[in-house]
Amino acid sequence: MMYQEPEVDLSVEYCGIRFENPFVLSSAPPSDSYEMVKRAFDAGWAGAIMKTTSVESYQVDISYPIMTSMDYEEKKGVALGNIDNISEWHMDVMEDAVRRLKDEFPTKVVGLSLWGTTNRDHWEELTKRSVDVGADLVEVSMSCPTDSPFARASLMVGQVPDDVKRVLGWVKERSGKMPVVAKLTSQVTDIAEIVEAVEEAGGDGVCASDTVHGLLGIDLDTFIPNPSINGKSTFCGVSGPVVKPITLRTLAMIAKGSGIPLAASGGATTWQDCAEYMLVGASTVQFCTAVMHYGYDIVEDLQEGLAYFLEHKGLKSSKDLVGKALPNIVAHGDLLVKKDVVTSIDEAICTKCGMCYYACRDGGHQAYELAEDGLPKPDPDKCYGCALCVEICPVECISLVPRR
Ligand SMILES: Cc1cc2nc3c(=O)[nH]c(=O)nc-3n(C[C@H](O)[C@H](O)[C@H](O)COP(=O)(O)O)c2cc1C
Ligand code: SF4
Ligand code: SF4
Repeated sequence: MMYQEPEVDLSVEYCGIRFENPFVLSSAPPSDSYEMVKRAFDAGWAGAIMKTTSVESYQVDISYPIMTSMDYEEKKGVALGNIDNISEWHMDVMEDAVRRLKDEFPTKVVGLSLWGTTNRDHWEELTKRSVDVGADLVEVSMSCPTDSPFARASLMVGQVPDDVKRVLGWVKERSGKMPVVAKLTSQVTDIAEIVEAVEEAGGDGVCASDTVHGLLGIDLDTFIPNPSINGKSTFCGVSGPVVKPITLRTLAMIAKGSGIPLAASGGATTWQDCAEYMLVGASTVQFCTAVMHYGYDIVEDLQEGLAYFLEHKGLKSSKDLVGKALPNIVAHGDLLVKKDVVTSIDEAICTKCGMCYYACRDGGHQAYELAEDGLPKPDPDKCYGCALCVEICPVECISLVPRR
C-alpha cells in the first residue's frame, strides 16, 4: 500500500507570526548557538528562542556541574534539575546567530530571550538591538529561578506584578512592532494577577510556565543535595515530564481568564503532550528537556504524530485544537455530585498481583475480597467508583462501568 501523508495543516499563529508547525525550541542549552539551531531547523523545528542573553559588560557566573536528575523506578529522568544561568554568550554572539539564521531560514521563527537584571539601560539596549538585528520576537525572562534581582532576592521578576510591569514597560518602549513575550512562572498565588500586569504593560504574549523551583534529591551518604559543587548545593529549576500537570494548569488558568497569545513551556515530550497543551490554549509548544534527553530528531515523530492525530479526529489544522478543552474545565463546586460508576475487572487479563486489593483496602473503601484462586472480587455495594484501583492496576484490566 502506498504511504500517504495526512493532508492537514500543521502551521499555527502566535503573536501574529506564522510558525510552520507548533514545535519550537525553548530558550535553553539546545538553542545556545547558530550551529545548534541550524541543525534543529534542518531537523524540522519551526522556531527557536535563543538561550537568554545579556549585554557584553554583564558577567555570567556558572558553577559546574549544573545538572541533576530524578529517576522513578526503572524510568530515567522523569525530572531534570538545573542550576544553569543565562548563556555565557553575550548579545553580540546572539545577534550574529539571528542574522545568519534568518538569512538561511527565512520561514523559521527566531526569537531572542533577554536578561537585563535591574538595569533599565540594559533592557532598553538589548531590546533595540533585537529590533535592529531582525529578531521575530523577544521573550523577557521573568521565571529564571537562579538569578533574581530587585529588592527581594529570593523572588523571580514574574512573581511580583510591579516588577513585571516595570521590566516589560522598559522593553515595550523600545520594541516597536516586534512582539514582546513575558516568560512566566507557575509559582505564584494568582497567575491572573501576573497576566493582568503583562497586559497593562502592553505585553503581546505569554510563555508559561518554565521550570519549577525545587530541590531534586539529597545524597544519603554525604547529606549534600544534588548537584554538589565542592560539598554545597542550591535550589534548582525542575523540568521534564514531572512538570507537565503544572504547565497544563497554568496554561488553562491563563487561557480561561485572558485572550493573550500563549506559548507552552514545561514538560512536553511527545506529540500527545503538545496536543494537550494546545487544547488548553497554547498556540506553540516549546521543548527543552526532551531535546536534551533524546536529541533534535524527535521533531520528526512530533510532526508525524500530530498530523495523524488531526486526520484521525477529522480536523484540517492544528489551529483547530487551540482552547478546545477549556469549556470542559470548571470549578470544583460546579461538578455534578454523583456516585454512579463502579469497578469492573477483565479477569482474563488479571495477573492476580493483588495491588487493587491493597490499594482499595488501605486507600479506598474496602470493596475487594480476594477469592481462593487470588482473583480480586469487587463488591459494587461497597465500591464508591473512586478510580484508585483503575489507576494503579499494572495491566490496566480494571475499568469503571455504570452502576446498575
Ligand atoms: C539546563 C537548562 C538551562 C535553561 N536555561 C534557560 C534560559 O537561559 N532561559 C530561559 O528562559 N529558560 C531556560 N531554561 C528553561 C527552559 O527553557 C524551559 O522553559 C524549561 O526547561 C521547561 O521546559 P522543559 O520541561 O521542556 O525542559 C533552561 C532549562 C534547562 C534545563
Ligand atoms: S473504584 Fe475505589 S472504591 Fe471502587 S474498588 Fe476501586 S479503589 Fe475500591
Ligand atoms: S491490580 Fe489488576 S492485575 Fe493486579 S489483581 Fe488487581 S485487577 Fe488483577
